[in-house]
Amino acid sequence: METLDIADDGRPVVLVTGASSGIGRATAIEFARRRDAHLVLTARREHELRETSEATERARDRTTTGRAGTGDSAATVLCVACDLATADGIDTLVAAIRAKAGRLDVLVNNAGVGGDQSFDAPTTMRDADRMLALNLRAPIALCHELLPLLRASRGSIVNISSVAGLIGTPDSEVYSSTKWALTGFSEALRASQSRFDVHVACVHPGPVPTPGWPHARLARSRFGRRVLASNVEVIARTCERAARRRGGPAPVRPRTYAPIPLLRGLAPWSIRALLERAARTGMRARLHAPLEQEQTP
Ligand SMILES: NC(=O)c1ccc[n+]([C@@H]2O[C@H](COP(=O)([O-])OP(=O)(O)OC[C@H]3O[C@@H](n4cnc5c(N)ncnc54)[C@H](OP(=O)(O)O)[C@@H]3O)[C@@H](O)[C@H]2O)c1
Repeated sequence: METLDIADDGRPVVLVTGASSGIGRATAIEFARRRDAHLVLTARREHELRETSEATERARDRTTTGRAGTGDSAATVLCVACDLATADGIDTLVAAIRAKAGRLDVLVNNAGVGGDQSFDAPTTMRDADRMLALNLRAPIALCHELLPLLRASRGSIVNISSVAGLIGTPDSEVYSSTKWALTGFSEALRASQSRFDVHVACVHPGPVPTPGWPHARLARSRFGRRVLASNVEVIARTCERAARRRGGPAPVRPRTYAPIPLLRGLAPWSIRALLERAARTGMRARLHAPLEQEQTP
């Protein structure tokens, strides 16, 4: 495993989990492009992590000319392949950061998995264990283990929740639970760590076409792409801004879904009616089914 060569050069050290794909890859690229950050990239697939690392180098090449305050040294990337759904994986990552970086300015807890079958499916409990371990236990454990480094740097934590962390989406009961819990965890941690000047943000993406969640139906219509869905670049920018304490502590993207908490307070019946209708019409299953399936008579 390589060492992160961190000179005291003004660059932040940023850890992105789930950096081999989708939102995590785009976020790593954004931190390289905007902040020329030293990066710690983690996921299970080593080859894909290397691809992200190369993409961050290309992004830097395009933007480093004329950047002030970074001197002549180059920013570095450390790739740590591990399974964050296991305690061993968390230990491996934390040990690598302590030994090879020794500093941390931004922790982006992005790695996550979903599941879209109905709650009475036979695989529900096996998937629940996986989702709880990766979507909830891993970010909590990383915040806990890395807090001393983040306090020392007066750094930022950015947790990636979901619109499913603001509204209980039918046929995603367990996924939704993990994201609601992450949203609540972030709010509590934000309050407790404010006195140490550690900033905690929680980003709530709506549908974002990625390898894990293709959202093919939304992605193919202009209205879907513009109004109902977002894209990885927008979420990556939101994460980078959130780490700089901009854009509010709990941004929702696209903003179409931002009124949900207000609606829940003012007109809870409207949320209930919307969700019951979505469940009745099997809306989620249709949104997630492959496109060919729709064309089959
Ligand atoms: N896309 C959406 O519509 C959407 C909407 C709201 C919220 N989100 C949230 O955004 C985050 C990223 O999702 P995405 O859409 O970018 O999905 P993605 O393309 O499937 O990426 C998921 C990332 O998590 C990593 N990962 C999965 N299992 C892991 C494990 N056991 N240990 C370590 N890393 C693991 C994957 O890498 P490896 O497979 O290499 O391990 C991959 O890098 C998730 O938390 C998701 O809940 C997504």
